[in-house]
Amino acid sequence: MNQPVKVSEKVYWIGVNDRETALFENLWPLDKGVAYNSYLINDEKVALIDTVKINKMDTYFEKIQEILGENKEVDYLIVNHMEPDHSGAIKEAMHYFPNIKIVGNQKTLEMLEAFYGITDNFYLVKDGDVLDLGEHKLRFYLTPMVHWPETMMSYDETDKILFSMDAFGGFGSLDGGVFDDEVNLEFYEDEIRRYFSNIVGKFSMMVQNALKKLQGLDISIVAPTHGPVWRENPQHIISLYDKWSRYEAEEGVVIVYGSMYGNTERMADFIARKLSEKGITNIRLYDASKTHVSYIISDMWRFKGVILGSCAYNSGLFPSMQTVINKIENSALKNRVLGIFGNYSWSGGGVVNLEAFADKMKWERVGESVEAKSSPKAEDFKKCVNIAEEMVKKLKA
Ligand code: FEO
Repeated sequence: MNQPVKVSEKVYWIGVNDRETALFENLWPLDKGVAYNSYLINDEKVALIDTVKINKMDTYFEKIQEILGENKEVDYLIVNHMEPDHSGAIKEAMHYFPNIKIVGNQKTLEMLEAFYGITDNFYLVKDGDVLDLGEHKLRFYLTPMVHWPETMMSYDETDKILFSMDAFGGFGSLDGGVFDDEVNLEFYEDEIRRYFSNIVGKFSMMVQNALKKLQGLDISIVAPTHGPVWRENPQHIISLYDKWSRYEAEEGVVIVYGSMYGNTERMADFIARKLSEKGITNIRLYDASKTHVSYIISDMWRFKGVILGSCAYNSGLFPSMQTVINKIENSALKNRVLGIFGNYSWSGGGVVNLEAFADKMKWERVGESVEAKSSPKAEDFKKCVNIAEEMVKKLKA
């Protein structure tokens, strides 16, 4: 969007959409784009809150100019987060506004120098400090490791707006609608959970710490650096974050398999049918070679049941399944129920590695692992029935 959007009397959304970048962090698919949200408080003193990725600067500075006109400058740039999708335009902002002060904490300062060689015009803030802009007062809350060391949030005590950086944000460009009451929330909630599970979920404990710190704060608007701005129901997104970072899950099963010639896939389909016959309606069945792990881990964060299947490949796990379990391990997802199946082929190596993964994760197990020899036989399908039945029992308990 090329025009600023008013969040309140003196606060503006001045974000940009990125529909060109294919992979966020060069890892996570952006097939629905992403928005880099930035905000401007046009008070006696002018504060810019976070910037945007370097590939999207032109319309960004036009919007700032449109709000401020010719005679006003930006006094402060609040840097809540240093990842370059938000810090990318800092140098350019310093060029546009030579007297600008960069506001951040000690970790921000270290990163500013490390990333951009910036050491001057820094305004150091500590947890709880307040910056007076005139009518608006910004209080800073240090929330380290959500998901980088320097991450912090800024709270506008006047309009009760929480500028929350990545927290509460998600993938998906803002296609006209900016606020939660202007968009289809089903779409954005999916993309916010995907962002959470891909980027932030590993640091769930730190998210819980941050939520505790914010408890009791009167929040009218949540303004993250990605995805919609929450003004109608800010508590909704806060409660979703709370639920995800406590690993709470819905009834449902994610089945993921790696299959070369369809034998492991047959078992996956069979298990899915048995789950359905037992009344499970949320079943997501993925071929790990086809669907990016970004979407798979997002569904695993949503549903309680996980069933993993792999054929053997060169005496090991099928490579696309290796990618899936690497991501689960790296995200440290907790409290899931796990079933395992696979195919020995001519060497074994699939199921045994899934077993090793299960030992590491310490998830609750269901049924006995089943490993077919080349094509699954009647006794293999019997064990698949057992996995499905045990899974349903756990989910319905
Ligand atoms: Fe949106 Fe951590 O960057």
